[in-house]
Amino acid sequence: MNNLAECFEETGKALDYPQFLADVLEGLSKEQKTLPCKYFYDEAGSNIFEQICELEEYYITRTELEILRSAGTEIADEMGEGVTIIEPGSGAGIKVQILLDALLHPRKFIPLEISLDALEASAQELKQKFPRLEIIPHRGDFTDHKDLGNLPLSSDQSERRLVFFPGSTIGNFSRAEAAEVLSNLRFLAGENGSVLLGADLIKDRQRLISAYDDSKGVTADFNKNLLVRINRELSADFDLDEGFEHQAIFNEELSRIEMHLVSTKDQVVRIDGQEITFARDETIHTENSHKYSAELFAEIAREAGLGITHQWTDAQQDFGLFLLKSGL
Ligand code: AVI
Repeated sequence: MNNLAECFEETGKALDYPQFLADVLEGLSKEQKTLPCKYFYDEAGSNIFEQICELEEYYITRTELEILRSAGTEIADEMGEGVTIIEPGSGAGIKVQILLDALLHPRKFIPLEISLDALEASAQELKQKFPRLEIIPHRGDFTDHKDLGNLPLSSDQSERRLVFFPGSTIGNFSRAEAAEVLSNLRFLAGENGSVLLGADLIKDRQRLISAYDDSKGVTADFNKNLLVRINRELSADFDLDEGFEHQAIFNEELSRIEMHLVSTKDQVVRIDGQEITFARDETIHTENSHKYSAELFAEIAREAGLGITHQWTDAQQDFGLFLLKSGL
């Protein structure tokens, strides 16, 4: 295998090609084939995800925005003046604008994001809208301890931090992983700080399934884009026309929506020269999206050393916004 720099120069492929390849081959060699959901978000995938957020069936984004708007004053009262906001996985930075508008003279904003383009674009936009705010963009992965450790956090004990983790991203982790992510957020908040987190709540099965299998097929495109990306970046030959179908199921026992790609036929796919065999109806499990009750979420937060100080929801109780503090 070439070294990373050579690989990038020669092929124009992503810099982390060997890791991506290793993750894909590992996932597809399991009895239940899987692919890591973090690979959904290449440029095309991020654009499709933005379209999902606009869908009528995908209630998550608009409901969280509505809750954030109505809880803004209470959050501001609780946090006080001059807060530092840290947003792991900040993306386009839309939701944080509502928070920044509500808070009393926020001092600093530290977005942590893998995509350099998203980081630069959102920093530019926020600088124009909040000229007095110090913005310190940081490139990195919030699931990586090294990247979290490198964040430019002040040692000043009087700094009050608010770690913002919206969008129910926590739901994409298993219970054990979610507790670990929460304990990383607690570390970022420090002893005096808080964590403001959005989590999707359990609801009617049909509404959940429609949110992940919408009538326009946008979520199906999002799911299949993973195969498009693997074909392009890893020299694979997945049949993109008819080889795989999108499936969203609700796993009641584990309280999660699962997305799968279902093989429509017996087939062999080549990835970087390796052959992977699929039986008809065999699936690749591509994503979990856990749905919580407020009680279950509180239990996981407690495992991570966090207690809920405030919680807000919408009229239909579709979504929960939680303010958490260390050591409660
Ligand atoms: C990013 N994440 C919280 C979304 C979710 O709802 O689990 C990703 C997504 N998958 C399909 N639709 C949206």
